[in-house]
Amino acid sequence: MELKSRDGLARICKFKGVETPALMPVVNPNLIVISPAEMRERFGVQAIITNSYIIWKNRKLREKALKEGLHSMLDFPGLIMTDSGTFQQHVYGDVEVNYLEIVKFQRDIGSDIGTILDIFTEPHHTHDEVKKAIDETAKRGKESLEIKGDMLLAGVIQGSIYPDLREYSAKVMNQLGFDYFPIGGVVPLMESYRYGDVVRSVIHSKMILDPSKPVHLFGAGHPMFFPFAVLLGIDFFDSAAYIKYARDDRILFPDGTRHLKDVKYPPFFSPIFDRYEINEIKEMKKEERTRVLAEHNLYMSLEEIKRIKEAIHEGRMWEYAEIRAREHPRLLEAYREILKYGKWLEEYENISKKSAFFYTGEESLKRPIVLRLKSRARKLSLHRSVIRLKRPWSREREMIPDAEVDTPFGKIPVELEDIYPVAQSEFPFEEEDEIPENVEYVKKEEYEIRKIKMIADYQFGRGAGIALFSGEVQLIKSKNTGKIRNVIVDGKHVASMRAEDGFFSLRIEGAKRLHSHIPYPRLRVVVTDDSAEFNKVGKNVFAKFVIDTDPEIRPGDEVLIVNKNDELLAVGKTLMNRFEMLHFSEGMCVKVREGVEKN
Ligand code: GUN
Repeated sequence: MELKSRDGLARICKFKGVETPALMPVVNPNLIVISPAEMRERFGVQAIITNSYIIWKNRKLREKALKEGLHSMLDFPGLIMTDSGTFQQHVYGDVEVNYLEIVKFQRDIGSDIGTILDIFTEPHHTHDEVKKAIDETAKRGKESLEIKGDMLLAGVIQGSIYPDLREYSAKVMNQLGFDYFPIGGVVPLMESYRYGDVVRSVIHSKMILDPSKPVHLFGAGHPMFFPFAVLLGIDFFDSAAYIKYARDDRILFPDGTRHLKDVKYPPFFSPIFDRYEINEIKEMKKEERTRVLAEHNLYMSLEEIKRIKEAIHEGRMWEYAEIRAREHPRLLEAYREILKYGKWLEEYENISKKSAFFYTGEESLKRPIVLRLKSRARKLSLHRSVIRLKRPWSREREMIPDAEVDTPFGKIPVELEDIYPVAQSEFPFEEEDEIPENVEYVKKEEYEIRKIKMIADYQFGRGAGIALFSGEVQLIKSKNTGKIRNVIVDGKHVASMRAEDGFFSLRIEGAKRLHSHIPYPRLRVVVTDDSAEFNKVGKNVFAKFVIDTDPEIRPGDEVLIVNKNDELLAVGKTLMNRFEMLHFSEGMCVKVREGVEKN
């Protein structure tokens, strides 16, 4: 996987030519309603999933697949994943095929991603039964890996509703080195709206799994749940829902499903409702009606993936999930369950985002970005007077109150007025000034020095303000807004203050100051000597060359790139946290701004 863009764990990646998050429509080779070629041409589908067991069981299909290959048989040149028959075992109680035989078959028909024949873990299974199923799945997985050939192999994470067993399964499967990780055993949970259990299953798997491998939520085809799964780092979905619902005359809407007979005002944005009136559809023969509704449902499912990608791109994924959580009380339950894992989520949370923080309800104040703000602000708090102010807090004033400001985020030192999300946030009320008489004031010049130091301490940790800005400080301000733009210390450009999020971008002079005052490993990304040669002349850092990093680094942080001897090479902005940098082997992880040697 190559990470392209992210909002927390929600991520846009490239995997084998497919942009994720992606939906793989389920194709039943016995019963094709929308052909794979059409999916690709009309719907832009890049990957599909089919069931190798269904093909294997039908002699004609089996021979055809072995002779022509799967891609030719389905007439689909894109990525094809195959499942193994586990789901049939879950539904019918048994399958006739041996676990190695079905992996060999997937390999021989040219599947791009094959799946092992895992043991489906049911919600009513005991802890003991589930543990046994995981061990058997791992044993099968190990043997399957030995015969997979060039095919990528998916190792399914099981564990039913037991978080400790999800972690156990993830650990065992991870160690075996699969190429792809589906999370299985969630269909019965999805069907009974046990979204809280699904959330826990995903989280406890994702906590352990190699973050550079794709994770697929098996059988979660209803678009209603997509935003929450993506928020937790799910990359792939499969959907049979589009066709199953169509067979039951059900229509997918952005906010849920409706029965055809109840619908009077269908949506505009669909490839079918501009061709047919709703009554024409109601009067169609079953087969045609199914086909037409399947088209609509597939379109809606793909549309949801697109909206999610746009939300990631804009940095509005949390807000998007909060809005979607209002569509079903159980979705709200799932969202609230997600918020319980704030400490873990914070590790993946970007320092700032393109979009302002929009408050949508009380849950908004539990987002990981708020937890971070509160905990870092608390450390910088000097127990000063608490006041209320309209933003921007220092405005045109010559004298600035020496205080903390009471905000919906908690008490924030006035010096942090411009940082994300303090300044870039919208709440459902008007701000007011409320300054008690006994508050002390500081002059603007003194305030500005305090401000740059406090922002540096917030952004880089305690001591960074002094390290960066000791000496003769000169502030270069914007002619239009009067805001600080560049900080020059002892005649050298040390850092720039970004207009969009109020944080600093470091110049190499600033990096040198931090490097000499802040001890290893803080702010460091350690790279191999091969990489060092390139980074020191300003070339970007690729994840595969990273040896170690500061565990406190967060996506979007400014980092010091060093070699094994902690010699400074360059400064840049990271796209990943430590766990990710240590695992990814494709793509860039730090965008270098400046190296120690001019190129
Ligand atoms: N499809 C839906 N759930 C599952 C599962 O747990 N395992 C496999 N292999 N396929 C599935």
